[in-house]
Amino acid sequence: MMNIDSMTTYDQSEQLAKAEAGVEALFQNRKDRWYPSSHIASKAGWINDPNGLCYFKGRYHAYYQLNPFDSVWGACHWGHVSSEDMVTWRREPIAMAPSFEAEQDGVFSGSAVVSDDGKLVIYYTGHRWRNGVNEDEGNLQEQCMAVSDDGIHFSKLGVVVPCPDDRILHFRDPKVWKQGDSWRMVFGVSTPEHRGEIWMYTSKDMVNWTFEKPIYQHPDPGVFMLECPDMFPLDDKWVICYSAMGLHPQGFEARNHNNAGYVIGTWQPGGDFQQETEFHLWDDGHNYYAPQTFQGPDGRRLVFGWMSPFTEPIPMQEDNWCGQFTVPREVTLAGDHLRTQPIREYSQLDQGQQDFGPIELGVNESRDLLADAQTADIEMEIDLARSQAERIGLEIHRTSNGDHTLVCYDDQLERVVLDRHCNTYGDRGYRTAPLDKSDGKLKLRIIVDRGSIEVYVNDGLEVMSSYSFPAEGPRAIRLIAESGEGKALIPSLTISQIGTIWQESDR
Ligand code: FRU
Repeated sequence: MMNIDSMTTYDQSEQLAKAEAGVEALFQNRKDRWYPSSHIASKAGWINDPNGLCYFKGRYHAYYQLNPFDSVWGACHWGHVSSEDMVTWRREPIAMAPSFEAEQDGVFSGSAVVSDDGKLVIYYTGHRWRNGVNEDEGNLQEQCMAVSDDGIHFSKLGVVVPCPDDRILHFRDPKVWKQGDSWRMVFGVSTPEHRGEIWMYTSKDMVNWTFEKPIYQHPDPGVFMLECPDMFPLDDKWVICYSAMGLHPQGFEARNHNNAGYVIGTWQPGGDFQQETEFHLWDDGHNYYAPQTFQGPDGRRLVFGWMSPFTEPIPMQEDNWCGQFTVPREVTLAGDHLRTQPIREYSQLDQGQQDFGPIELGVNESRDLLADAQTADIEMEIDLARSQAERIGLEIHRTSNGDHTLVCYDDQLERVVLDRHCNTYGDRGYRTAPLDKSDGKLKLRIIVDRGSIEVYVNDGLEVMSSYSFPAEGPRAIRLIAESGEGKALIPSLTISQIGTIWQESDR
């Protein structure tokens, strides 16, 4: 049996100093045309998955996969920000850098829990390439542990869950929680048969872990890995979520390179997960992956997702940064669905609300609402029952060359659409979200940052998160009604600016 006091600790101070210098050097030439002011991003460099989300000693902590040396994926570290209220954030020193053999090619994703004696314990994946350079011959991955008194400085304790089978090429992303007097860990595995599974381990002492069972296997044999799995209770249900590699697009669904979603069911410790719903995407936009949930001090289930720029071109990379989180969302159960909405505190960032409603537009009419909105928190209702336009919505990030991203209700598709076909920079294409039209109206909340748009449909029953990189010059917002037999009726429409999430001394 291992024991915490007898474990070797690995020093990472030198590697952390190099990483800080890396971010600082990139920051000197960061361009801010699309750099978010109201979303978490690294000061410079590449970020991906949210890691170690937690509330510890009076602050919320969000760590993230970070490449401190470049704006492309690689050299995985854990970057760190913290906040008292999840509204204003402070940049913290980089928390984790590769510093011993099992993690020499990356400190991969993981999660955080508070131990019974009040320490912050993180579990993460130590990553190595089998051939020492790339994934061609697969990965060597093991679950590792680190401990902290303040959430800022970590002592690394090494490997706690080695990979049990040489033929396993993906074995990563531990999510840990306490239940009764046991600790439980789930993580993603690609089995020797290349099936995507989630395995569960248990422990009494946080150090010695025992394999319990595969708690979930993806039904599609083409899905070879479930990254960043999460498992949590919500009311009387349990939710299992994961980021699937190898899922193929089907109609409007799963159109991104990899796709994150969930299933809902029931589960008792020791038992099997009884799935009760279909798989649903967390988010129908172009850019959403590897979400992680955690429980806030008031019991709310909260989630951050990474706005994954999977498809080239990725223009923010030229600006010495790449990647941001979505806004923090609260997760609640809505039948066979999860509802995800911006946490209510997010509205504290709103400034100078302007009221434009009610508005009636004629066929093919448009109205300029704002001449230059770098950020916007938009709330809008569309009267579907009495409108006859084919498309009703907003052109956002509209620049003088006519380019924009359209967010609209489309009466032919009977869905909400986010359409980037008129974008100057970045990947184009559209995404859609399904819609229940039975009460005759549509409520949209749209959160616009300098390079992104999030659309919440009917109080978060569906969400779409996509990058949108506007062209040069002012970024207008225009209301449009397109074609059809008659008018577009918008009973209410307000727009606020969104203040920065960064405390004064951070940018
Ligand atoms: C998901 C992921 C994880 C891994 C991490 C590495 O985006 O591939 O499975 O731990 O990113 O950065």
